[in-house]
Amino acid sequence: MTIVASPSGVPSFLGGAIRPAINPCAHGTPRPASPWTGEAGTVGRAVVVGAGKMGLPLAVQFARHGWDVTAVDVNPDVVAAVNAGRSHVTEEPGLAEGVAEVHAAGRLRATTDAAAAVRQADVAVLIVPVMLDDAHQPDYRFMDSAVESISRGVHSGLTVIFETTLPVGDTRGRFLPRLEAAGGLIGDEDLFVAFSPERLYSGAVFANLATYPKLVGGVGPESTRRAAVFYDSVLDAEIVAMSGAEAAEFSKLADTTYRDVNIALANEFARFADRAGVDIQEVIAAANSQPYSHIHQPGIGVGGHCIPVYPHLLLSRAPDLEVVATARRTNDGVLGSVIKTIESQLGGLDDAQILVLGLTYRENVKELAYSRALPLIDRLGFHGAEVWAYDPLLSDEEIARSCAKPYHWGESAPFRAIVTQTGDRLWRSLDFSLYPRLEVLFDGRNSLREVELPAAVRYFGIGVQAATRRRAATPS
Ligand SMILES: NC(=O)c1ccc[n+]([C@@H]2O[C@H](COP(=O)([O-])OP(=O)(O)OC[C@H]3O[C@@H](n4cnc5c(N)ncnc54)[C@H](O)[C@@H]3O)[C@@H](O)[C@H]2O)c1
Repeated sequence: MTIVASPSGVPSFLGGAIRPAINPCAHGTPRPASPWTGEAGTVGRAVVVGAGKMGLPLAVQFARHGWDVTAVDVNPDVVAAVNAGRSHVTEEPGLAEGVAEVHAAGRLRATTDAAAAVRQADVAVLIVPVMLDDAHQPDYRFMDSAVESISRGVHSGLTVIFETTLPVGDTRGRFLPRLEAAGGLIGDEDLFVAFSPERLYSGAVFANLATYPKLVGGVGPESTRRAAVFYDSVLDAEIVAMSGAEAAEFSKLADTTYRDVNIALANEFARFADRAGVDIQEVIAAANSQPYSHIHQPGIGVGGHCIPVYPHLLLSRAPDLEVVATARRTNDGVLGSVIKTIESQLGGLDDAQILVLGLTYRENVKELAYSRALPLIDRLGFHGAEVWAYDPLLSDEEIARSCAKPYHWGESAPFRAIVTQTGDRLWRSLDFSLYPRLEVLFDGRNSLREVELPAAVRYFGIGVQAATRRRAATPS
C-alpha cells in the first residue's frame, strides 16, 4: 500500500474505454489499537454515517479490513436490515454477501444513535447526500443534521472524514467550526477533520475501491495524515495525500463537472450530426481512436445525484464559470428537443399514448434522483399526452408516483410513440407487434440503433437518424 502526494499514473483512455487494473489486497493482519492514533498497521473503531448505496459498501470494506464498524442511519428499516445481517441495497454486486459476512463476524452493526456511536469511535465517515434546492443552491439539510447528530459524540482524538461531495471550502468553513465548538476542541490538534471524495460508480463499488486512487485532504497536516493512514488500512488503491481539504473538494467537482461538460459537447455534436446527416456514434468512435480524444456519449439527459448536481455545487461558489453553466443548460435542454420531435411527428401530443422505458436515472441502478424521466413524463403530460412507463426495477406503485401509468412488459397497447430514457439491454427485445399503432421510436440512449423496426415506425436517436443508423450495424 502506498500514500503518495500525487497520483502515480493514469490508465490509458484509448477509445474512451477505461478499465484500470484491480489491485490485489496486500494488507497483513492488523493490530487493534485503542485509541487509534493513525499508526500504520493498526485498526480501531469506525462509524459510517449514512448507510446508503455508498455508505453501506464502505462499512463492509472497513469491517473486512479489521475495523470494528457501526453504521448510523436515520432510517430504522436500514438499521434493522443491517442488524439482521442483510443489505437493503440489492443492486450492488457483492454487497449482500459482504454485509452477511462482516455482520456474522461481529464487526458490523447499525444504530440510529449517532452520538453514542461516535463517542466510542476513532474515525467517523460522513456519507449522507447534499442535494440542490429549487434555486440550484446546495441543500444541506441531511448533512447539517448528520453533523449536528454526531456533534454530541465528538471527543478528543476523533478523526472526522467527509466523503459526500461538498462545495469548495465547506469542510473547513462550514463544518470544522461546528465540530470544534461541539467538542471544545481545536482542529488538527485534538480533532482531525478531512475531506475524501467518494468517487465510486454504483454497480462497481468494490472493484472501484480496489482501483481508484483515494484522494484525501485535511484541514491541517495531521488531519491529512490520519485520514490517509485510515484509508491505507482499508483500501487496496493508492492513497493521495493532497495539500488540503479544498484541493480534495475541488478535485471531485472538477472530475464530475468535466464529465457534464464533455457530455454537453457530445450533445452539441449530436445536434450538428443530425444536420449533417451523419451518425454521431460513428463519429465519436472514430474521434476517440486518437488517444487524446475522450468524447463521452450524447443522450436524452444527465441524471442521478452526482453529475447534474456537482456542477451546481461548483457554480454556487463560482457563478462566473460560463462553460460549466452552459453545459448544464445544454444537457437539460435535450429533453425539450426530444419532445418537440415527437410532437411534430405525431402532429400534436393531445391524447397520444406514449410509453417511456426506463425511469431510473440509469439502467440497473434503482435511483430516481434527478432522473430525466421525471420531467419527460411531466412535460409530455403537460402537452396532453397519456404517458405510460415501465422500469424493471420499479413496482407499479413506484411508477405511479412518477405520474405515469404503469405498463406491464409484454402487453399489447396502442402506443403511438416509445421513448427510451435508459439504455437497458431489455429494450432490445421489444416486440413491436404488440404496438400496432406505433409511429415513433425515440432512442434516448442510442442503444437501439440496430433493432429491426416495422416499416411504419420512424426511428430517432440523439445524433443518430433513421437513414444513418443502419450503417452502425454494418460489420467493418
Ligand atoms: N450513489 C452514487 O452513485 C454516488 C457516487 C459517488 C458519490 N456519491 C456521494 O455519496 C453521497 C450519498 O450517496 P448514496 O447514493 O449513498 O445516498 P443514499 O440515498 O443511497 O443513502 C443515503 C443514506 O443516508 C441516510 N441519511 C440521511 N440523512 C441522514 C442523517 N442525518 N444521519 C444518518 N443517516 C442519514 C439515508 O437514510 C440513506 O440511507 C452522495 O450525496 C454523493 O455525495 C454517491
